[in-house]
Amino acid sequence: MRSISVIGAGTMGNGIAHVMALHGYDVNLIDKNESALKKAMQTIEKNLERQVQKNVINNIQKETTLANIHCSQDISSAVASSDLIIEAVTEVASVKKEIFKLVDQSAPPNCILASNTSSISISELANATTRPGKVIGMHFMNPVPVMKLVEIIEGHAGSKETTQTIVELTHSIGKIPCVVKDAPGFISNRVLMPMINEAVLALQEGISDAKTIDEIMKLGMAHPMGPLQLADYIGLDVCHNILSILEDGFDNAKYHPADLLTEKVAAGKLGVKTGEGFYKY
Ligand code: CAA
Repeated sequence: MRSISVIGAGTMGNGIAHVMALHGYDVNLIDKNESALKKAMQTIEKNLERQVQKNVINNIQKETTLANIHCSQDISSAVASSDLIIEAVTEVASVKKEIFKLVDQSAPPNCILASNTSSISISELANATTRPGKVIGMHFMNPVPVMKLVEIIEGHAGSKETTQTIVELTHSIGKIPCVVKDAPGFISNRVLMPMINEAVLALQEGISDAKTIDEIMKLGMAHPMGPLQLADYIGLDVCHNILSILEDGFDNAKYHPADLLTEKVAAGKLGVKTGEGFYKY
């Protein structure tokens, strides 16, 4: 495996491109929006420089990494000689399915199609293609250059050979693969989101303030960020969306998003990205 296409130049897409290129893969970073590509390259440059300053990498590795990334606005031509495509676009099933349909037509028959989805069924995405055995979930964590986990999700029709290839690739980029079956929220968000929701419920009930709730989880449970700060970092709209997918997928009201979370999202207070969530930035 040499050539990897990453579709979507947002936070996750640029992080994935960064890590793949740093480990010597030839990366096509694809986005229909030219300014998103420009911004992504600036972010990658900034994060590589941060790693240079911390002596994690040297200047030559930084320059080689940047040279390994090629930006493109045209999906069909960019994926034509890819060994692996990782889709990291907006978390909307219909948009992802359209992309899977499109790349299925343009990518070589042996190319593996992966999605960085945090909640959408991999089996459903696989059904949009003519190669369900070669479709898999590669769920990276934010910030991608730092977080060790890649949650690997096997669709119902996924092949063991595809899983093995992706597990080996994950090791080759210095990350740890954890393989799970396709189910709502997989494992990461099935466990994380109810904790975040419970913290929001406690805040809503006035049991304590945001800072104290976060301090309890940081100091008492050794979490690097408290649940409310983490929710702001992930995006409150993203948390709300994943909780709704869990509620629908399991048909269980225990996952119903807390009213306070729904109110914040309705008010456009989505966390770090909008300047306010449970905290102000
Ligand atoms: N690129 C490269 N390096 C980065 C970076 C980036 N984007 N962001 C941070 N770093 C590096 C820093 O340079 C620093 O390096 P050293 O340890 O060598 O000094 C290190 O990471 C820690 O960063 P900071 O000192 O700036 O800040 P911090 O100690 O507060 O850590 C954090 C920041 C890594 C984000 C930490 O708070 C953390 O781990 N938070 C939890 C993150 C988490 O849970 N992510 C998963 C979210 S869920 C998800 O992504 C999936 C989903 O489906 C919702």
